[in-house]
Amino acid sequence: MKNLVVAIDGPAGAGKSTVAQLAARKLGCTYIDTGAMYRAVAWKTLQRKQPVTDELILDVVKDVHVELAYVEGKTTVSVDGTDVTGEIRTPEVTAIVSQVAALGPVRSRMVELQRRMAAKGSVLMDGRDIATSVLPDANVKIFLTASIEERARRRFKEMQEKGYNVSLEELQKDIAARDKADSEREISPLVQAPDAELLDTSNMGIDEVVQAIIDRCSRV
Ligand code: CDP
Repeated sequence: MKNLVVAIDGPAGAGKSTVAQLAARKLGCTYIDTGAMYRAVAWKTLQRKQPVTDELILDVVKDVHVELAYVEGKTTVSVDGTDVTGEIRTPEVTAIVSQVAALGPVRSRMVELQRRMAAKGSVLMDGRDIATSVLPDANVKIFLTASIEERARRRFKEMQEKGYNVSLEELQKDIAARDKADSEREISPLVQAPDAELLDTSNMGIDEVVQAIIDRCSRV
């Protein structure tokens, strides 16, 4: 059978990684979380303990070794051999990731890796530019979104569960700022591909969204 290639894009906190991971498992695809790769570069940049400038990021990306593994339905990310799966989700990393992801050399290195991983078999990849740029020939293209209030609420719950003391208002502001940066950048901005289907999950539960993705895949 031909490989299935599923591209899911959307703004911050739309729940992409949660539903994409579950849907990939049900579809028997490898799940590729491209946001985790940009987060990994951001994490390594912070390890330098210097003011975060574009020059610093470009220096870091020159010899960074990012590896994404998907084993038994779980994604792990490593940087130069160190497992950073938990550490890439801190507010500190989130605060600089859009700056990191806006830089051309960062994107070209990560996109090359993403395409190489996708060439190995059936994949479900999520991010911002998958349908428009990384995998324009994907069989299924979904633009996953939800209202900003709902996305902030979801992220708030997730951060609270992880023990972070954050305010809902601050989170909503951070998400809006990241959406703006991701949508307005020059290279591969966040935009719904003309041939992608919009899936607004504001009033949908996780299982419902997973099923909606699977239904779209069964049509190809
Ligand atoms: O999970 P969350 O929605 O917070 O974001 P993420 O998917 O982990 O992505 C983190 C950041 O990486 C985004 O805000 C983008 O700046 C960047 N990104 C990107 O530019 N292109 C992608 N394909 C994926 C992520």
